[in-house]
Amino acid sequence: MALNVLVLGSGGREHALAWKISQSDSLANLYCLPGNPGTAAIATNIKASAGDFEAVAAAVKANAIDMVVVGPEDPLVNGIADFLKERFPKLMVVGPCRKGAMLEGSKEFAKDFMSRHSIPTAAYRAFTGETLPQAKAFLKTLQPPYVLKADGLAAGKGVVILEDYDAACKELEEMFSGKFGAASSKVVIEQFLSGIEVSVFVLTDGRDYLILPEAKDYKRIGDGDTGLNTGGMGAVSPVPFADAEFMKKVEERIVKPTIAGLAADGIDYKGFIFLGLMNCGGDPYVIEYNVRMGDPETESVMTRIGSDLLCHLAAAAKEELGKERITIKNDAAVTVVVVSGGYPGHYPKGYPISGLDDAALLGVNLFHMGTSAAGDQVVTSGGRVLAVTANGADMNAAARKAYEGVAKVAFQDCYHRSDITKDLQKYI
Ligand code: AMP
Ligand code: GLY
Repeated sequence: MALNVLVLGSGGREHALAWKISQSDSLANLYCLPGNPGTAAIATNIKASAGDFEAVAAAVKANAIDMVVVGPEDPLVNGIADFLKERFPKLMVVGPCRKGAMLEGSKEFAKDFMSRHSIPTAAYRAFTGETLPQAKAFLKTLQPPYVLKADGLAAGKGVVILEDYDAACKELEEMFSGKFGAASSKVVIEQFLSGIEVSVFVLTDGRDYLILPEAKDYKRIGDGDTGLNTGGMGAVSPVPFADAEFMKKVEERIVKPTIAGLAADGIDYKGFIFLGLMNCGGDPYVIEYNVRMGDPETESVMTRIGSDLLCHLAAAAKEELGKERITIKNDAAVTVVVVSGGYPGHYPKGYPISGLDDAALLGVNLFHMGTSAAGDQVVTSGGRVLAVTANGADMNAAARKAYEGVAKVAFQDCYHRSDITKDLQKYI
């Protein structure tokens, strides 16, 4: 049966998911809500917000949608999967129920889950404003640097790492006083893990799972991992240090107990799990769970899946994932994100983007992250504007091609990191 599919979200992750789904023989019609000018070329965009559940329900009904794929975390944490399943019992929803989404929506919930199911993670304790003295006393027992995490969703900004005890105490007070709004009324303090990070993506139906290609993200704005944190400035897949031995440990120590833990806790989970891991001397530890794909990691990961993603998603939604086999291409993908000057601080919007067609002619994928249409022009409309993704026989070939693509696109004050993959040279 050919499926009508609706992808929720407006960024590069959703463009990449839609791009991959659009290649499926099992697809009838593809819709994105709201989508962006990139998805408009491969799907029908529906003007509405993914946070407006009634508007999503109306789109499902009007277009006889068979499957909804939820891109971002906010609607999941707010219960869109539960809402849609109640309204449309036969609808396939890729994305966990509200309870499952708490793995991302509450750091304390996630840490308690890991501790209950013996999943390796940093030692931690959670505190509120009332237990500030105990929080400060706990900090004293730790070695710097100190890791403070707002419990709730804080748009990727809720983690603060400080070297100095007094600065950490001051930060704690500010967090409890609403620095991240309600998200930091509770704070998790945890042991600092030193190592190198890797993102592992799993698709599960709550019982069986597929492990997607892993990726590495580049979080800081500046070359050499300097400056402010961003949503992600680039991605690489595969990750040279995540060899078969490491990935086996990830599967045995983290993936299996996570999925068994969800089942044991009675949590219905059909969707992606994004494991933010630290490789500490060859052993994986969970830094965070996300209940969705990563952005910009998805833009690299999707290009490396050889098998039919839509079939995998349908099997996940129908609890039939046990019979699916994923094929991963034997190539490498590199994504370089082109951002607006000023990002992650303030930046202007509305600058015309040139060179999109020239870059596409090189054979790179241009996933739109923050663009909008103004007449027949594509203009900037976000901090992260374009994810330029290239594939090659190996990482360096892919990086060369991605940077050729980046060189073709331009808009006023555009910026990108020029060192994506540089830190990984020592592992190849
Ligand atoms: P999170 O939002 O939990 O992913 O944290 C943001 C970033 O903070 C991570 O990507 C890590 O670079 C860093 N981080 C978080 N927790 C720890 C930890 N326990 N030890 C070291 N770095 C951490
Ligand atoms: N790139 C990291 C994230 O999507 O959270």
